[in-house]
Amino acid sequence: SPEDSPLFKSLNGKWKFCWVPKPSLKPSDFWKQEYDDSSWKEIEVPSNWEIQGYGIPIYVNSDYEFTRNPLPPRIPHDNNPTGLYRLKFEVPENWKEFDIFIHFGAVKSAFYLWVNGNKVGYSEDSKTPAEFKITPYLRNGENLIALEVYRWSDGSYLECQDMWRISGIERDVYLYAAPHVRIRDFFARTNLDDDYKNGILDLDVEVLNDISPMRGSGQKTSVFNLFVSILDENGKEIFSGKQKFSIKPQEKKILNFKENIRYVKSWSAETPDLYTLCLELKDEKNCSLEAIVRKIGFRSVEIKNGKLLLNGKAIKLKGVNRHEHDPWKGHVVSQESMIKDIQLMKQFNINAVRTSHYPNDPRWYELCDYYGIYLIDEANIESHGMGYGERSLAKNPDWSPAHLDRIMRMVERDKNHPSVIIWSMGNEAGNGINFENVYKWIKERDKTRPVQYERAELHWNTDIYAPMYAKIEWIEAYARQNPPRPLILCEYSHSMGNSTGNLKDYWDVIEKYDSLQGGFIWDWVDQGFAKKNEKGELFWAFGGDYGPPGTPSDANFCCNGLFAPDRTPHPAVWEVKKVYQPLKIELLNKRRIKITNKYDFTDIEGYTIRWILLKDGKRIATGSLTSPSIKSYDSAEIPLDYPLENMNSESEIFLNVEIIAPHPLFHGLIPKGYVIASEQFLLKKGERTIEKILPSKTSILKVTEDPNEIKITGKDSVIIFGKDEGCIKSYRFKNIELFKEGPLPNFWRAPTDNDFGNMMPLRLKMWREASRKREVRGFKIKKDKGMISVRFDFYLPAVETYHSVEYSIFPDGTILISNNFRPLKPENLPEIPRIGMIMGLAEGFEKIKYYGRGPHENYCDRKSSAFIGIYETTMDEQIIPYVSPQEFGNHTDTRWLSITNKEGYGIKFIGNPVFEFTAVPYTPEDLTLSKRGEKHSIDIPRRNSLYITIDMAQMGVGGDDSWGAKPHPQYLINPQNYSWSFLIKPEKFD
Ligand code: GAL
Ligand code: MG
Repeated sequence: SPEDSPLFKSLNGKWKFCWVPKPSLKPSDFWKQEYDDSSWKEIEVPSNWEIQGYGIPIYVNSDYEFTRNPLPPRIPHDNNPTGLYRLKFEVPENWKEFDIFIHFGAVKSAFYLWVNGNKVGYSEDSKTPAEFKITPYLRNGENLIALEVYRWSDGSYLECQDMWRISGIERDVYLYAAPHVRIRDFFARTNLDDDYKNGILDLDVEVLNDISPMRGSGQKTSVFNLFVSILDENGKEIFSGKQKFSIKPQEKKILNFKENIRYVKSWSAETPDLYTLCLELKDEKNCSLEAIVRKIGFRSVEIKNGKLLLNGKAIKLKGVNRHEHDPWKGHVVSQESMIKDIQLMKQFNINAVRTSHYPNDPRWYELCDYYGIYLIDEANIESHGMGYGERSLAKNPDWSPAHLDRIMRMVERDKNHPSVIIWSMGNEAGNGINFENVYKWIKERDKTRPVQYERAELHWNTDIYAPMYAKIEWIEAYARQNPPRPLILCEYSHSMGNSTGNLKDYWDVIEKYDSLQGGFIWDWVDQGFAKKNEKGELFWAFGGDYGPPGTPSDANFCCNGLFAPDRTPHPAVWEVKKVYQPLKIELLNKRRIKITNKYDFTDIEGYTIRWILLKDGKRIATGSLTSPSIKSYDSAEIPLDYPLENMNSESEIFLNVEIIAPHPLFHGLIPKGYVIASEQFLLKKGERTIEKILPSKTSILKVTEDPNEIKITGKDSVIIFGKDEGCIKSYRFKNIELFKEGPLPNFWRAPTDNDFGNMMPLRLKMWREASRKREVRGFKIKKDKGMISVRFDFYLPAVETYHSVEYSIFPDGTILISNNFRPLKPENLPEIPRIGMIMGLAEGFEKIKYYGRGPHENYCDRKSSAFIGIYETTMDEQIIPYVSPQEFGNHTDTRWLSITNKEGYGIKFIGNPVFEFTAVPYTPEDLTLSKRGEKHSIDIPRRNSLYITIDMAQMGVGGDDSWGAKPHPQYLINPQNYSWSFLIKPEKFD
């Protein structure tokens, strides 16, 4: 904790600030001490000035946000917002004998620095620190620093990342003091030996004698001692070393310490064991000059036989891409938010992060070392806007030093972190000579880590094949060739809106091949900003929500997260947790399960195994036991003595198994009792078919007809059909109206972000038409021994399809609704978004109970985590606020659904045998946008009653990408004849 050192002084806080739209408008002498800044405002440091109300936050994906005029390295003069900063401070009294440095953690995009009126320097690369030795410029008492920060600079050509383009001093600023002869840097290479048991320390400590040769005693060569020790977690010294050396003024020396350390506890994301490295510099008289303490971890990373090995094991990276994002602060992230992110990662079984697309706040790496997260550390290089062709900056040698500089600054800053296991040279910046050179440089500088770069594809300058959004067949075909390089998807499963489908299918393949070592979901959180509308309601703003018309924007394409901006989980992240779970549970016969330990380094022992038996969705028995010891990659068979007596009934029986943390894990981020892994098994199929539950036909029903209506009256029920509409106009039971709008065939779903990506609104628009326009071709009333049926025959011109709906009405008011769908030319039709019925319930019916997959939203290609059970919920809880309106709230494999009012009256839907449903106060039409990101969810008024869709099927959500990929074929609904039915009955009326 640097704050505890007397040689550290934070300069975070309120600074004087002045913003001008272009550099030429700045007061020319603002950096002078005598300049009067009393009219300036104050700004928080660190912060992004656009978030503080200066200028416009711009979100664009792959283009530059400024006008390229005419070409790199030029940037516009007439529009380049510039922030001027001034801060007065005092240097601690006792720093007289030291050199003093100022550290800027990150300044976007570039700046000049003045100290007490002297121009000190310039820096760019907005995501690595800039440090200046300012000793000569300082004086007693008050000092002044002034900064001129540009929104855009030539460096911006390398900062074309798909994110909010905002500016300012966005990380910590501090001063620190160090002796004139000091430890300038160190590189602790902390590998393991060939058996992965013993540690190999190879430590370079760079000492600099920064005494100017001009100064009196400075000519002399002096003698110093460097002490090194390494302590274990209990403070026990496991290594100590000392070197005596002499050093001339302005000389730099590298002292090396090598040692084999027996039986170290190795570091991994599962076992984040750290050691404390202490470096102490003493003078000849053994007087301490400087001491540095850092956490290190012993671990080895290598590529061997085509596999990425960590501590000798071919680990799987269950990763996510993470941008630094805070909905209230922009790119300034607090320590609490970083810990919160790591906690969520741990709880959702995520073990790896790609720091897309720049080096993160330094604190992030310390936290990942401590809690255990694998990092792919990515350099701040993306020149996407230049394309990958001849104009690519990767191919232009003028840009070579800039590429190298950014790489060096990342590697030098982060090289001592055990969590960093791979270097990434950047993102979407083409490939060429500049990346070949930096690859060579990294390999020379750091022989302990592999290097990857997506754009290198299979060229030699990447150690890992790291494609983005490669399809399952593609990665499998690669793996089949027994390739010399492992494949790790640097981005996959594009989680924009309602997405993240077929994740399980990816992992079924990844787990089959050793050379497939995982992937990084795009991405962690929706990058939306908290904003209020005219009514004062909070919403997540995206591109286009700031600035005048014409402000460049890529709308909601910045919202691809597994979590909302405030870290509220989206339903899909439960699927991620399930697919990424480290323990596999299988059901063997004879009441035995098999648990396979997929942790790479953790032997599980004493974990709680809980089983739950569900009979028709109701819990009927539960028990728990303690797991035996199961070593990493091993498995164990475990008997479960659940009762057998229910197996002979007609009921459906499920067995749920959960594996539970027996004690807090990862420094408490996972609490005791947390369910780490779970699985559901069908033990016995239900035998109760819909025929078996149809009500008796004993009492009498009466039919009356007029030119417009058909009315069917039973003892307690009155059902009215509209002849022209071809549907139920009123469904009353004991005088309570259940429907606002009766069921009608529906084939449309509100397009998801992915649907927009694959042009679904255009490709499948006939299904929207088919839902809106139907011709009633006739109806038929049939009486059959105490039962009456009414059949409506439709023709759906948009899809040239005959569709009939038959209502079989029983004396107690129950209705069996049977659909018959017959396309005339199925070969001319594309896939069907969904096939089912939609109806509006009367007001007041808002309590929802169902026996199906839940509790979270699920779709046919994203349902492995949603277990079948009985769930109770409400209208409000079913609303999932995706950033932009789209289909949501589905539940597959539903046996029955009941919707009631406060008194418990209502309606029940029973499947034959199952259906999918949504129960939300919107119709698909309400949520249909004319283009992606056209609106925010709060822009759509809620209806004041539930609309229910009861579907035979809905197509999957997909997720391979959001720019063309469709749901996989097995999750599509092909046009053909379909017949399907369900039952509706009044609830609790008897
Ligand atoms: C990738 C890119 C990411 C992001 C993503 C789409 O191509 O690396 O930065 O743009 O696509 O959301
Ligand atoms: Mg890009």
